[in-house]
Amino acid sequence: MLQGSRGEFSSRIGFVLAATGSAVGLGNVWGFPTNAAGNGGGAFVAIYLILAFVLAYPALMAELVIGRHTRANIYSALEGLASNAPTRLAARLTGGYAVLVASAILGFYTLVAGWVLAQLCAAIARVLDWPSMSGWFATASLGRDLASAALFAVLTVLVVSGGVRNGIERWSTRLMPALLILLLALIGYVLTQPGALAGLRLYLVPDIARILDPALLVSALGQAFFSLSLGVGTMLVYASYLDSKENLPVVGAMITGIDTLVAFLAGLLVIPAMFVAQRQGIEIHAGGELIAGPDLIFQVLPALFGSMAQWGDLVALAFFALLAIAALTSSISMLEVPVALAVEKTPLARGPASWLIGIAVFAATALIACFFDPLFGLVVTVTTEYSQPLVGIALCLFAGWAIHRDRLLAEIRASQGEAAGLFWKIWPPYVRIVCPLLIAATFLQGLIH
Ligand code: TRP
Repeated sequence: MLQGSRGEFSSRIGFVLAATGSAVGLGNVWGFPTNAAGNGGGAFVAIYLILAFVLAYPALMAELVIGRHTRANIYSALEGLASNAPTRLAARLTGGYAVLVASAILGFYTLVAGWVLAQLCAAIARVLDWPSMSGWFATASLGRDLASAALFAVLTVLVVSGGVRNGIERWSTRLMPALLILLLALIGYVLTQPGALAGLRLYLVPDIARILDPALLVSALGQAFFSLSLGVGTMLVYASYLDSKENLPVVGAMITGIDTLVAFLAGLLVIPAMFVAQRQGIEIHAGGELIAGPDLIFQVLPALFGSMAQWGDLVALAFFALLAIAALTSSISMLEVPVALAVEKTPLARGPASWLIGIAVFAATALIACFFDPLFGLVVTVTTEYSQPLVGIALCLFAGWAIHRDRLLAEIRASQGEAAGLFWKIWPPYVRIVCPLLIAATFLQGLIH
């Protein structure tokens, strides 16, 4: 493959913002807080922190190392690492499957992001005082869901067809700072409202009895893999556009750290907001548990915004803008996985490839929207709970066993500093044996329970 024909990020900060843009998404803003609230508060936060750095970070490094060495999409990358027929078969199966999983995740993610976009449009229409428009966007219907998902899909395709530097990097560097500002402003606002402290307590005080609960471990691992976009080749393909002089252990740690920090901050917003809502008489429990998932975002919080006399519309607008930004910088990283494969393996140019794949993925989104009850949960479970950890294990094994020693040595020479030196001593044996075993053990425990 010609080096010059591939894109490249223009700077470290460009890459870090794009990769954290991928990582920071709906998973952080509502997955993490509700998982924490439902799994012993601070106990979940503590276990998550440990798992993020002990299991997810080494697995992320496996993707970054493979991506940067092979400079290719996940399929060609793994194929290039294989040295004999059986491993080549394993490489093709893993790579092809990962591309499918990335597309399927994008399929359901687009539907959910469409709901977010619909709420954002409703909030904008309310601020502009267009009641019939805001009513249409605020009320669920198949027509609304398909229209707003289509709008989101078009935005995703437009960014990806712009390429690495003019699409992905440009929009990530614009949107990520906006996201952080919105998040901090909303936290400041919610924490000053009556009732917020009860939420803060639930979120931060650990329920020690839950710490060794196997269900907690499994949810924390799943959350970490989803949140860091692992196990489908997104981080791998982003790293394939990274300058060869960048210090991988350091950028990997930055991505893990920022993603975890944003998840933690989102908890400071969402959980207290629920208790503020409770003060206003809004129901926040269902069947003894705190309401989680779509109902939290699309019922509880809108009800809260609706009850805030003066600022409600603007706060709703800020909140859904935050979610929409988080979703867009994530969805572009998912679309890049199949698009990179198409651009590198077929004669298609990036523009047409992005549109064609975007349309195919949207067909899947429409199918999930039309047959929501049987399909949605199934696709989420198969892709995120089963496929991501399994492909993640395979990627650790490829990084640990199939990358030639000379290449790892080159990597060691490229990174400087004592911490990096220590990293390259510990990581290779760790990713070869310990990491796959630990992921497998946690995964199997989830199957048993
Ligand atoms: N990490 C993102 C989130 O937290 C979602 C995401 C982006 C993702 N790319 C991915 C999840 C690849 C799984 C695989 O919302």
